[in-house]
Amino acid sequence: MKGIILAGGRGTRLHPATLAISKQLLPVYDKPMIYYPLSILMLAGIRDFLVITTSEDKPLFQRLLGDGSQWGISLRLAVQPAPGGIAEAFLIGADFIGNEPVALILGDNIFHGYGLEAHLAHAVAAARNRGVIFAHQVTDPQRYGVIAFDGAGRPVAIEEKPRRPASDWVVTGLYFYDPAVVEIASGLRPSSRGELEITDINNAYLARGALEIIRLGRGHAWLDMGTPESLIDAANFVRTLEQRQGQRIACPEEIAFRRGYITADQLRRLAEAMGATAYSRYLLGVAGESAGTNVS
Ligand code: DAU
Repeated sequence: MKGIILAGGRGTRLHPATLAISKQLLPVYDKPMIYYPLSILMLAGIRDFLVITTSEDKPLFQRLLGDGSQWGISLRLAVQPAPGGIAEAFLIGADFIGNEPVALILGDNIFHGYGLEAHLAHAVAAARNRGVIFAHQVTDPQRYGVIAFDGAGRPVAIEEKPRRPASDWVVTGLYFYDPAVVEIASGLRPSSRGELEITDINNAYLARGALEIIRLGRGHAWLDMGTPESLIDAANFVRTLEQRQGQRIACPEEIAFRRGYITADQLRRLAEAMGATAYSRYLLGVAGESAGTNVS
C-alpha cells in the first residue's frame, strides 16, 4: 500500500503565521505538524510515501524529511501548483500509486485513540477492493463532509459542507482506496468552489456499493488545525497527553524503531543529532528499551 500526505494549500486562515512557511511545518507542541499524519500512516504499516506540497515549501519539506531512509521508509515530494482540491492528490500521485491501493491523509489531521492500529490494519486489508473512510461526531458538521444514514444506519450519501447537516457524523481526513481511485479522480469535474472534491470520490464508491465507513467512537480524538484556536487546542492536547503519560505521540523515530525499520543504534544517532532536548532524551530512553511494544 502507498501513502500520500497532502500538505499543500495556502493556510490563509492562519495568516500571518503561514505567510512565509507551510502550515504543515508549524510546530504542534514539540514537533512539526506533518509528523502527526505521517505517524498515522506509518502505524498503518505503510513505508512508501508521497508528500504533496507547494513549490515554495518543497525545499523545506526536503530539509525536514529527506528521503525517509533515516526512518526506514521511502519518501518523495511532489508539487500541487494551486489548491485544486483534495481529490487532485490522486492525479498528482497517479504514477506513484500505479496499481496499488493507496491511503491519503490530510497534513493537518491528528488521530489518537485506543484501538486505532487495529482499525488501520483493517482499512489496509479492506482497501484491496473498496474505499474505507473514517467518520467522527462533531458539534459543527456544516464545516465538513457530512454522512446521511438511512433508518437502518446504512450510509446513503455524503454532502460537502451542507447548510442543514443530515447528521453529526462527518468524514475525517483519512482515506483508503483500491487502485480504481485514480480513474475515479480522472473523471471528476471541479465543484462550485472550483475544487476536485474528495466527497465526490466517496460518493462514487458509495454508489458502487464499495464504501466502508469506520465510525470512530468516544475513545478516539480527531483534530484538524486550520485556525489559531484549533492549532493551540491541538498543541495543548498533545502536551497534556505527553506530560501525563510520559510517552510521546507521533514520533516517527519511535515508530520506526518499534516496527523494526531502524536499529537502537540508528535511533540513538537520530536522538543525538537533535542535541540536548527533551525529545532527544525521550528517544534515547526508547532506544534503551526492547522493541515490539504497542505505540498508538
Ligand atoms: O478535515 C476533513 C474535511 O476535509 C472533510 O470532512 C471534507 O469532506 C473535505 O472536503 C475537507 O474539508 P475542507 O475542504 O474544509 O478541507 P480544506 O480545504 O481545509 O483542506 C484540508 C487540508 O488539505 C488543508 O490543510 C490543506 C490541504 N489541501 C487542501 C486543498 C483543497 C491541499 O493541500 N490542497 C488542496 O487543494
